[in-house]
Order: sequence, then structure tokens, then C-alpha cells
Amino acid sequence: MPTRQESIDFILDHFENPRRRGRLENADLVLEGGNPGCGDVVTLYLKLDAETRIVDIGFEGEGCTISQAAASLLTEHVLGRTLREVAEMSPDPLVDELGRDVVSTRLKCATLALNTLKNAEKQYRNGQARAEVQAT
Ligand code: FES
Repeated sequence: MPTRQESIDFILDHFENPRRRGRLENADLVLEGGNPGCGDVVTLYLKLDAETRIVDIGFEGEGCTISQAAASLLTEHVLGRTLREVAEMSPDPLVDELGRDVVSTRLKCATLALNTLKNAEKQYRNGQARAEVQAT
């Protein structure tokens, strides 16, 4: 298990050098999430294949260090997964990697991006249903 200091360094590294930060111009799906308690926000951009597998992902956001570091880490965890797999993901691996003793009092921050992404499947299906209705 990482020490508390190692966890803090890991979080700061993701915050200062975010992986996959930025908008994807050709995104198939854009998801916006926020934490009403504090006003922090995250936007996720997804590029999907025909099986709804995430083939590319980017994020933008404004918020606390843990929420933005967790969004960066999340992009590494979900690349190559389908929207169904994402909807069933447990937050535990993310929380453990961020450092459970550091983020356990800030779980809303640590899971903001994941909870936003979990809406992806529903939003994707709604979009498809809408397109179907419009086409008829
Ligand atoms: Fe707002 Fe962390 S304080 S998400």
C-alpha cells in the first residue's frame, strides 16, 4: 500500500501533468458533470467504436485537486472499455490508486468524473433513440 506521502505525490502529478486533458473535436459523446456542493465541473469527450468501446477520451474541468487528478486517472482506466463495462465499474480501483486514506473523506471529489462517465451509456442510447425517431 502506498504511504500517505506517495499518494499525495501521485495525486499532484496527475493534477499538474493531466493525462488526456483537452477537448476532442470529433467526439461522439460529450458528458458534463458537476458537484453541486462546491460547483466543481468536469466535461468528458468520448470517441467510440461500433461496439461503444472508448477508443479515445479527453477531459476538461475546473475544480479541486482531487477531482481533476481523478479525472486524469480515470481516462487511463477506461480507454478500451465499452460503455456497458464503464456503467458497471466499481470506484474502488480508482480510490485505491489515488490513495484511500487521502481521499476517503473526499469521495465525492474522487468519483466526480467516474459518476459523470457512468451516464454515458444512457445518454448514448437516448441519442440513438432520438436519431431513430427523427429518421422515421
Ligand atoms: Fe468540489 Fe472537490 S471540492 S469536487
